[in-house]
This record gives sequence, C-alpha cells and structure tokens, in this order.
Amino acid sequence: MRAIQIHQWTRPEDLRETDAPGPSCGVGEVVIDVHAAAISHSLGLLVQGQYQRKPAFPFIPGNTVAGIVSATGEGATRFRIGDRVVASLEMGGLAAQAAAHEDNVFAIPEGMPFDEATTLNTSYNSVAAALTWPHVLNLQAGQALLVTGAGGGTGTAAVQIGKLLGARVMAAARSDARRQRALRHGAEWVVDADPATLRDAVREHLPQGVDAAIEPAGGALFDAALRCMAPMGRIVPLGFAGGDVPQIPANLLLVKNITVCGLYMGYYKIDARAEHAGRMRALFTTLGDWWSQGLIRPEIGLRLPLAEVSNGFAWLRERAHTGHAVIDMAAH
Ligand SMILES: NC(=O)c1ccc[n+]([C@@H]2O[C@H](COP(=O)([O-])OP(=O)(O)OC[C@H]3O[C@@H](n4cnc5c(N)ncnc54)[C@H](OP(=O)(O)O)[C@@H]3O)[C@@H](O)[C@H]2O)c1
Repeated sequence: MRAIQIHQWTRPEDLRETDAPGPSCGVGEVVIDVHAAAISHSLGLLVQGQYQRKPAFPFIPGNTVAGIVSATGEGATRFRIGDRVVASLEMGGLAAQAAAHEDNVFAIPEGMPFDEATTLNTSYNSVAAALTWPHVLNLQAGQALLVTGAGGGTGTAAVQIGKLLGARVMAAARSDARRQRALRHGAEWVVDADPATLRDAVREHLPQGVDAAIEPAGGALFDAALRCMAPMGRIVPLGFAGGDVPQIPANLLLVKNITVCGLYMGYYKIDARAEHAGRMRALFTTLGDWWSQGLIRPEIGLRLPLAEVSNGFAWLRERAHTGHAVIDMAAH
C-alpha cells in the first residue's frame, strides 16, 4: 500500500511516499481505509526522534486518520464494515490503510468531511478534555477563560469551545489578523500575546484576572499567562509550540492558590486506553453533537496528497496560514 515509512530518524522535509505492507487486523482492532490523515508539529518531532515516543524501525508515522472501516478483527464488535470513523493510533496513519483498536475508533456524524473529522482527534478532543473534564479546568458558564496561541489549531478550538460553554473568552494572539479571527470564532476580548504586556492587557479588561487558561505556546508566554490568573485559577500548559518548556514558580501557585493541570491526551488514548475508553467515547460523542449543531467549525488550512507530505511539514513550521494540515489520501 502507499505509505510513508521510516527506517531511520529523518528530517520531515526528506519524507517520501513508498510502498509498504498493509496492516494486519489484530484482536479487538479494525482496519480503516484512510481518506484523510492529520499531520502536526508533534509528528514532525516524532520522525526526527525528538518526541517522547520513539517507535522501533521501521514504522509508519501518523496518529490520526479518518476513513471507512474495511475489516474487523476477532472480538471487535463496535463497528461494521462501511462505518465512517475517526481513529487515534500510536502510529501507522500516513498510509492507505491503518489498523486501530476499536476503543480508539469513533463514529463521525453524517455529512462530516473526513478532513474535518481528523481535527476531532487533534485539537478538539484535547481542548474539550481540558475545558470540561472535572479534574482539569472544569470550566463553568460565566467564568473568564484566557486562550493564548489563539490563532493556532488548539487555540481556535479553545476559543470556540470556551464560547459554547458560556465562558467569557479572552484570546491572545501575535498578529492583528489572528486576533480578528479569534473575535470571529467567539472571543469577547483580544489582546497581543506579547509576554511583556500580556498581564496588563488582560487586567485592563479583568482586574481580578482570569479563572482558567489554556496555554499551548510555552516559554515566556506560559509565565505571563500564569501571572494573569485570578486567585484559585486553573491553567493547562497544553503544549510548547514556541519550543521552550516553561519552569513553574511554585511561590506564585502558593500565594494565589493557582492549580496547574497537566494534560497529555496520549495517556488517555494509548497508555491507559482500556481504563479511559468510556471517557473518550463520551468526549467524541459530545464533539460530534457540537459539530452537527454547528457549534464547532474546524478549519482546514492545507490539503495535500501523500507524496507532498514534506511540504505539509514546511507549512506547519512556517505558520504562514491558519487552520489544520491534512493529507488527502485520494489526491495524487
Ligand atoms: N497536551 C496534549 O495532549 C496536546 C494535544 C494537542 C496539541 N498539543 C500541543 O499543543 C501545541 C499547540 O498545538 P497547535 O496545534 O495549536 O499548534 P499551532 O496550530 O502551530 O499553534 C500554536 C500557536 O502557538 C503560538 N506560538 C507559537 N510559537 C510561539 C512563540 N514562540 N511565542 C508565542 N506564541 C507562539 C502561535 O500563536 P499565535 O501566532 O496565534 O499567537 C501559534 O498559533 C503543540 O505543541 C502541540 O504538540 C498538546
């Protein structure tokens, strides 16, 4: 089958389409004919050996696919051949077919395009978990939510979901075009995501600070966001898109009763899959309902054939556009 296969750590710009054996359908698994596969910053790190997971060679990278179930393995009962699904994988996604455990496969709503469906497993599930799960932010209607990196994939999802949950959303982004975009997606206020000015800009609108924050950029922006928190506020360091892992000043947490909540979706989807399968199914059902009601609006910024996957990573690195990057398996 057509695939991207890695035999050694590789720069994303050197990835090439090749021919690889198709997946076998193990116990409890389904095979999916892939129509769309997501690419992301973390996938770019994975293929270079710079991610927390380091699969054995050779492997096919790709942790998110959307498509149609074409086979079901022994003991897999949740899906039938022909079902339209999105799936979370440990690897194997950048290929014409992929196998996934049925616990990590989720039905998608009628009419949902496959490329948009991939975003349910990239940005939207992470942000919905961060905002709604009781042990994470547990965001309530009327609370103030700060979203940094608001022009990015998770940032846009956070603005949309924060708004639909009834929160008052303050979006921080680095360009005026991205701030205007955040307003269109439901932000009540927008501010410049400059670490030097963020605290004052936020407090101009909310003197007490914000009740909750999602921070995907890391580095100095996380530190600035921490200083925007109201007493008893809760913040999620969702990612480090800027490259620097922030150090957390514990004195600030102590004096303001702030909670920093860790969230790594790979734990719920892969490491502790069996334990959290019900929680994940409920999350994807909610996301599907929100999409069907028009409450979340995924944006695809780039669609590419598999053979041009390296251009997709260049696009992600340059951040020239907004929206998600997706490999369209039907395109040549
Ligand atoms: N914890 C999890 O389970 C989980 C789940 C999903 C994603 N993530 C991680 O979350 C991070 C964001 O993902 P994404 O899909 O939203 O990426 P993205 O679409 O590239 O957006 C990242 C945003 O971060 C901001 N940013 C980047 N570099 C920055 C810098 N040096 N200083 C300040 N802001 C900067 C930019 O915001 P503006 O230009 O708009 O200001 C950019 O839009 C990634 O590291 C990803 O791996 C983690």
